[in-house]
Amino acid sequence: MTDRNTVRFVLDGEIVEIRDVDPTRTVLQYLREDLGRKGSKEGCAEGDCGACTVVIAELVDGERLGVRAINSCIQFLPTLDGKELITIESLSPNEALHPAQDAMIRNHGSQCGFCTPGFVMSLYALYETNKNPGRRDIDDALAGNLCRCTGYRPIIEAATQMYAAQSPASSDRSRLLSKLKRKTSLQVEHNGRHFFAPLDADELAGLVKRYPDATILAGGTDIGLWVTKQHRELDIVIYTGRVAGLQAVDVTDSHIDIGAAATLSDAVPTIVKHYPGLDEMFRRFASPPIRNAGTLGGNIANGSPIGDSMAALMVLDTTLVLRCGDAEREVPLRDFYHDYMVNDLQSGEILLRIKVPLPKSDVVVRSHKWSKRFDQDISAVCTAYRLQLDGSVVASFSMACGGLAATVRPAPNTEAAINGQEWNEATIESACKALATDFSPITDMRASADIRLRATQNLLRRFFAETVDDRLVTVYNYGR
Ligand SMILES: Cc1cc2nc3c(=O)[nH]c(=O)nc-3n(C[C@H](O)[C@H](O)[C@H](O)COP(=O)(O)OP(=O)(O)OC[C@H]3O[C@@H](n4cnc5c(N)ncnc54)[C@H](O)[C@@H]3O)c2cc1C
Ligand code: FES
Ligand code: FES
Repeated sequence: MTDRNTVRFVLDGEIVEIRDVDPTRTVLQYLREDLGRKGSKEGCAEGDCGACTVVIAELVDGERLGVRAINSCIQFLPTLDGKELITIESLSPNEALHPAQDAMIRNHGSQCGFCTPGFVMSLYALYETNKNPGRRDIDDALAGNLCRCTGYRPIIEAATQMYAAQSPASSDRSRLLSKLKRKTSLQVEHNGRHFFAPLDADELAGLVKRYPDATILAGGTDIGLWVTKQHRELDIVIYTGRVAGLQAVDVTDSHIDIGAAATLSDAVPTIVKHYPGLDEMFRRFASPPIRNAGTLGGNIANGSPIGDSMAALMVLDTTLVLRCGDAEREVPLRDFYHDYMVNDLQSGEILLRIKVPLPKSDVVVRSHKWSKRFDQDISAVCTAYRLQLDGSVVASFSMACGGLAATVRPAPNTEAAINGQEWNEATIESACKALATDFSPITDMRASADIRLRATQNLLRRFFAETVDDRLVTVYNYGR
């Protein structure tokens, strides 16, 4: 029987077992300090630079093989249980280079080399998951890796040329991974601190009820920084990543049903398929390694005022399914946030599922993200709109904004100024005045209060331009 207190994962074709694991030791600390595998680097320890990128293979929901790059600097070691860890050292056993490494050398894709292992791991993940990437796929795959000396052109060249080399023989990952399947959940204890990885929703709900002050860990892309940057001690961690069914994304007759532990990479394509106007915002949400670990549920539950998903989900009339013990209740996302980082979750309660209604045929939905960089940047302002016209008159309009208040929230005065009016410039100008009464933004390092408000008014004008004349879309869009 599997030891409840033993973390088991695959590394270089072998099953590794570790006992007495510190629940919040990061994968990067383990690699560099415990194993002496120093290929993965620490640049920022907060998921920003990509120097620590490794690749994880796992059977998602026990079936589908997922291969994805993640940031090892903010991933806790016990979350590796049941998965395969692939590091830069794994790519060239017997000194034979992987095509991604070979292409980097041939294209002079490295100077000081500090960023190089991270870039290679992102290229490796691309190689494994997309056999014919276009330029946009390559740019997106590398969006979480920073290089301060080589420049990106030779690295992008390497990405296009790595497919020319013969593919290395691929290992049968699923076979070894299936050996790691658990019958009983992982329960790590170390110096009085605990890490629980429940296997089903009943066990999860029971644990959260029993330990109402525990930290609920999903992808750890927010929580990881509490430990690496704020040096917080987490006494009890309850991990949602092994809960059966919680990673599922299903489409019913009425809505998209997203498990709270579904990663952004898994959940977002289904949302964007039904709402293509949200493509830019989700493409610019963090980077692939963050989206591969981070969950939509974590974004909503964290509830940062500059979180990106919530404005769009609010205008779509998204509902949250919450669970406490055996009891479930539903709350509209619009009513979920009470104040800065305060939400409707009660003690012992968890977010279980996210219900996003399917689109009605004649409704236009868009979202805009305004930040200093295109890739991998936190929004200064994030807006979303849902518009339904009856001829030239607005039958229904919703708008929500992030970055303008203590929580992401709707803009009721702006909505009132537009609903029932002609969809024209005069209406938009009066709505821009109303917008100034909806929010009193603050000044911080991302933008001043005045610029935040003016940018939001201009984004509303942009949305109007996009909806009255499709030719303007190309002028207003960032498109690369
Ligand atoms: C480099 C970097 C870039 C980023 N860029 C962006 C960005 O562009 N836009 C953006 O919006 N965010 C961004 N983030 C923030 C973060 O990635 C997102 O908020 C992400 O969605 C969090 O999900 P997670 O699964 O990692 O949450 P976690 O870190 O695991 O948890 C976050 C919070 O949610 C709670 N929680 C998680 N699941 C549940 C549940 N089922 N029930 C109750 N509570 C739960 C946790 O207890 C915690 O309070 C970025 C983060 C980093 C490090
Ligand atoms: S060290 Fe920078 S992303 Fe991990
Ligand atoms: S080669 Fe020096 S940081 Fe990229």
